[in-house]
Amino acid sequence: MILAACVSVGAWAARADYRIIPLPKSVQTDSTQFFTISTGMGIAYDASDPEMARNAQFLRQWVEELTGIQLAMTPDDKKAAIQMRLGLPSDKKIKNKKGLTLTEQQQEAYLITVDKNGIAICARKHVGLFRAAQTLRKALPVLPIAQKAVSEQGLTDGGAFAKVEVAFPYTIIQDEPRFGYRGVHLDCARHFFTVEVIKQYLDLMAMHGCNQFHWHFTEDQGWRFEVKALPDLAKKGSIREQTVLGRNTGVYDGQRYGGYYTQEQCRDIVNYAAERYINVIPEIDMPGHMLGALHVYPNLGCTGGPYPVWTHWGVSRDVLCAGNPETMTFLKTVFGELCDVFPSKFVHIGGDECPKNRWKECPKCQAKAKELGLVDDGKHSIENQLQTWVNHEIEQFLKERGRDMIGWDEVLEGGLTEGGIVMSWRGIKGGIEAAKQHHRVIMTPNAYCYIDHYQLKDQWSQPLGIGGYLPMSKVYEFEPLIPDQLSEEEQQYILGPQVNLWTEYVAYPEHVFYMLLPRLDAISEVQWSPSDQKDFEDFKGRLPHMKEIYDRMGVNYCHGLE
Ligand code: ACM
Ligand code: ZN
Repeated sequence: MILAACVSVGAWAARADYRIIPLPKSVQTDSTQFFTISTGMGIAYDASDPEMARNAQFLRQWVEELTGIQLAMTPDDKKAAIQMRLGLPSDKKIKNKKGLTLTEQQQEAYLITVDKNGIAICARKHVGLFRAAQTLRKALPVLPIAQKAVSEQGLTDGGAFAKVEVAFPYTIIQDEPRFGYRGVHLDCARHFFTVEVIKQYLDLMAMHGCNQFHWHFTEDQGWRFEVKALPDLAKKGSIREQTVLGRNTGVYDGQRYGGYYTQEQCRDIVNYAAERYINVIPEIDMPGHMLGALHVYPNLGCTGGPYPVWTHWGVSRDVLCAGNPETMTFLKTVFGELCDVFPSKFVHIGGDECPKNRWKECPKCQAKAKELGLVDDGKHSIENQLQTWVNHEIEQFLKERGRDMIGWDEVLEGGLTEGGIVMSWRGIKGGIEAAKQHHRVIMTPNAYCYIDHYQLKDQWSQPLGIGGYLPMSKVYEFEPLIPDQLSEEEQQYILGPQVNLWTEYVAYPEHVFYMLLPRLDAISEVQWSPSDQKDFEDFKGRLPHMKEIYDRMGVNYCHGLE
């Protein structure tokens, strides 16, 4: 951002710049005229509307954090500098509103106008007001920290009040997202991150317009969701005796490692996310990746165990026994409590990387397959169909609770259940196949969306990672609709893209944010901005200002620009 800053004793002035990330759909700016804000000016909102008041409060807080300007909350003041209101002027012109059906994206639309009267924010729904407030936040210049200290003290050396002004060029910004689903995932099972860290993660997501947090809870290396009916599950299943150093070197750190989320903490996260218009999608990964649970309930495995919680990385061959009726009881108990805690319409059942070695040998699994009449049809093996049966049972269970099931793309291998949503991770193939079958799809192909991969070519300058190379430029390149392989009708089934952060090698919050930023910026533009506006060089030019904001927030990020 170019700061037209004039810093003299007791004065600091700079311009807002609407060239933000993700880029809004339409910005028409007249850079010769300005509306200027300073401390004491007001934000008006509808006093009878607590949700609008909350969004106005967010804006007030962000303006102060970045510039030191203290706006006043002035509900219902028609003369206030900043006006927040519901309703888009363009909608008023539509006579028969009954016929107006809005897409998810249109529900998030907003309009910002800056002219001689001030800054007006309008939106169809509260979510749009929140998005608009985020746009204004990111357009703000960041006050140099020393000056902020002065303004916080209230006095400059000269004894006069510091004068801080931000000039907003006249503008009309009309915006709405490209995709309805804009996801970010975090693996909290390989490593556990505190509620505070997750809230920071959600703040960054919200700042980038993301609206789905995919929370990965369970793994071979630990179970991290409290189930009240099964108190030992999280208490014991969350603990591994030690953790391997490096990439399965055979050398261990000798430190017990654990941590899980209580249901109360989960509800706190759900509420925190909801206030930022983010839905939380919980994932219990089954029937594979289950050693956390099998350690506590070895009767649920085909061999009977014992099953230590893994202390190294990889995929265990020991999985839930599909032929044991207790497995289904266990899963229904877990998913039942999951539905009680998480109101999300989408619930993730995992389904990835479930080796079938044990099922092939297990008399109970084979008896179940026989009972179900499963035969290898050349396309779907008996064991893959057995996994589809498990998925189907849980899908029905979730449906009774009004939920839709998401599974990793392996859920296609035994034949997809009726309503399953496919999360395409092993490339785009699964997503294409599912969309062609008219199933909904979330696109998260590892080559573009796995942000556990290295982001700079010089791996030796980076903290140890899982491998691979996914620079920000490649994330930015991703086109989720695959227009050369999907017809326009089939493209309708692509809900949107998501990035995934797996954490085998990511143990600390600084490293989490380092991996996330600035690749979150890149995916956010894929998720939000019109594809015909994509321009990586222009994007890179907008990034330094985002980094100034990250510095002010105190979050770590990768400095490279690959
Ligand atoms: C996955 O990365 N195993 C979904
Ligand atoms: Zn079995």
